[in-house]
Amino acid sequence: MRKKIVAGNWKMNLQLDEAKQLLQEIKALGKNVSDVNLIINPPALYISLFKELLENSVIALGAQNCSEHESGAYTGEIAAQMIKSCGANYVIVGHSERRSYYHETNAIIAEKINRALAANLSPIFCCGELLSEREENNHFKVVEQQLKEGLFHLNEKDIKNVVIAYEPVWAIGTGVTATAEQAQEMHAFIRKVLKDFYTEATAQNCSILYGGSCNASNAKELFSNPDIDGGLIGGASLKAADFLTIAQSF
Ligand code: PGA
Repeated sequence: MRKKIVAGNWKMNLQLDEAKQLLQEIKALGKNVSDVNLIINPPALYISLFKELLENSVIALGAQNCSEHESGAYTGEIAAQMIKSCGANYVIVGHSERRSYYHETNAIIAEKINRALAANLSPIFCCGELLSEREENNHFKVVEQQLKEGLFHLNEKDIKNVVIAYEPVWAIGTGVTATAEQAQEMHAFIRKVLKDFYTEATAQNCSILYGGSCNASNAKELFSNPDIDGGLIGGASLKAADFLTIAQSF
């Protein structure tokens, strides 16, 4: 059975006091959640402190990005090894906001994936099409290309440590969710591409999350689909009760 995962992507929100409070609320409510891996991806500055605050909790930590370089003169950047050394086990790579605002190409994303794995972090690899690409019926092609150029350089052993998040760009932060049918169709497609490139077992074991305006009201319908293994949650992860309702929506 593959892992069910609900990951919160806090993006560039919350000052330290607010962040600590939200963490404590999630930690308290999270005690009621079983069989689901909960991951919080706060701003990287908070990871080290959060690691201490989460002592004795099953909630895992991740960063929202890492550098494509190992170390050195890259002012302002954060290395995968640093993220690991502060207590995180995951890192989001290739989020559409990084692709569009910070010009991350599939080639840069492939390097970030390598750095993450070398640091023993599990990458949460994001893929997804623009609205125009879906309207032109190119969404499958675009996602397949993102997978092939950003991820499929990995061998069979390394790909097992990757979580995939399908996040249609038109659904992120817009309040417009992909329908459960649209999401399931793409998740099944991603699993088929995984199977064709790797093996049936690899495809079956890979957790594929949906992201894009997933919330406490629509999570159940989305997660009831056979190829949707959880969610990468932005806005709704900033409210403890909503985040935990989503985690109990399987
Ligand atoms: P959203 O963001 O849930 O606010 O749409 C999801 C994401 O960007 O990961």
